[in-house]
Amino acid sequence: MTVARAARLSKQNSPRSADRRLFCFFGNVIIFAVSVVDLQTYSAAHTRQWGARLGALLSPGDVICVSGELGAGKTTLATGIGHGWGALEAVNSPTFVFVNEYSRADGNRLYHVDAYRLRDAADADSIALPDLLDNPNAALLIEWPERVLAALPPERLWVALRWIDEHTREIRMESCGPRYDWMLDRLRDA
Ligand SMILES: Nc1ncnc2c1ncn2[C@@H]1O[C@H](COP(=O)(O)OP(=O)(O)OP(=O)(O)O)[C@@H](O)[C@H]1O
Ligand SMILES: [Mg+2]
Repeated sequence: MTVARAARLSKQNSPRSADRRLFCFFGNVIIFAVSVVDLQTYSAAHTRQWGARLGALLSPGDVICVSGELGAGKTTLATGIGHGWGALEAVNSPTFVFVNEYSRADGNRLYHVDAYRLRDAADADSIALPDLLDNPNAALLIEWPERVLAALPPERLWVALRWIDEHTREIRMESCGPRYDWMLDRLRDA
């Protein structure tokens, strides 16, 4: 392998930065130091690859929030997460149905919510979001989480995607809670 190719692969596969300088607020109270993984992807497949790494780490009770503008790559990342988690069904956008439910051979579930068309946390009841969060056998993945922020638990992984150019996206993952610190530590090792 050439040095240039090795450098390119290393650039593609390692997070650009990982630090621990932010804090997670609940009201105006600091509740967690936030761990951060910041990386760029250079294709949809590359985003799916990172999603699959994250999905493989999910357990029931986990909450993954995926934010970003239209076309930022939220559903692309979610597809990778579902694949890495082991979904038996095809993973696609729940924009029109609000919630997709995926199953796995061990009986666990992954809920994939698109909150784009919800106005506020009160609307979260209309898609039974509290019940989805209470399911002891399910993890939850939500696009447009800011729409229903007040209905989400303070412990969560927040993934923000940003469009850089046609093929490049910035992905910033911030943990809120020790469970998600652990997740980001595993991703740094990936
Ligand atoms: N690096 C990349 N990561 C993710 N998607 C990419 C990347 N480069 C190009 N794309 C393309 O960008 C588009 C992202 O669409 P996607 O549906 O995932 O976005 P979204 O954030 O879910 O949008 P919406 O809010 O409209 O549902 C896809 O067409 C994908 O192929
Ligand atoms: Mg989408």
